[in-house]
Amino acid sequence: MNLIENLKWRYAAKAYSALKVTEEKVDQILEAINLSASSCGLQSYRIFVVSNPEIQKKLGADSYNGQISSCSHLLVFAAFNDVTPTYIDDYMAMTEKQRGLEAGALSGFRNGLHSYFSAINTEQKVLWAAKQAYIALGTALIAAAELKVDATPIEGFNASLIDEVLGLQEKGLHSAVILALGYRDLEKDYMATTKKVRLPIDEMITKVY
Ligand SMILES: Cc1cc2nc3c(=O)[nH]c(=O)nc-3n(C[C@H](O)[C@H](O)[C@H](O)COP(=O)(O)O)c2cc1C
Repeated sequence: MNLIENLKWRYAAKAYSALKVTEEKVDQILEAINLSASSCGLQSYRIFVVSNPEIQKKLGADSYNGQISSCSHLLVFAAFNDVTPTYIDDYMAMTEKQRGLEAGALSGFRNGLHSYFSAINTEQKVLWAAKQAYIALGTALIAAAELKVDATPIEGFNASLIDEVLGLQEKGLHSAVILALGYRDLEKDYMATTKKVRLPIDEMITKVY
């Protein structure tokens, strides 16, 4: 299966070459992200795509991950700081419109969402939103592998620095996780030739049939 071969090919690249990923491929990865599953379908995060050496240098200034400044494109998965009633209402209205439903057709679902989000605190909402961003990260990793684009998921970054440089706080967002995209530098990246390590499959999986 091609998917499995491509997942075996991928690894979290440690060093990137100067080669740029085409805009077409970046857009395909972004479309895959937009097609990700999310809890209640609310897509509680936004993606910032940075491909500018000076800005990347600023974003990576306080990180041991050189990939932030050397990659072709950096995706910042910025999760919501809150899930507001207005956001829920707007999203439900958009859903009704896209599905050709009458306005208010989804009021039962909308009210359920209002109740759920008014019953949990800000910390729980932030965590919930960030979890959705991580699902999108997984989708992006698979999409990149399918396109033979190298990718590094990165948690080792200074979130407050990235939030500040990209003005995320003002937008009600915070950086949850980031993803470097580009092409592996075979000479500089020791990981390119290091064997992938995974558990034996039956240690990982329990089938209950
Ligand atoms: C959420 C997350 C955060 C990660 N953070 C970093 C990081 O900061 N720097 C890095 O080089 N790799 C990072 N990695 C890559 C992992 O170390 C890597 O995925 C793991 O060792 C498995 O290896 P493979 O992806 O190369 O197969 C991260 C991976 C995930 C999923």
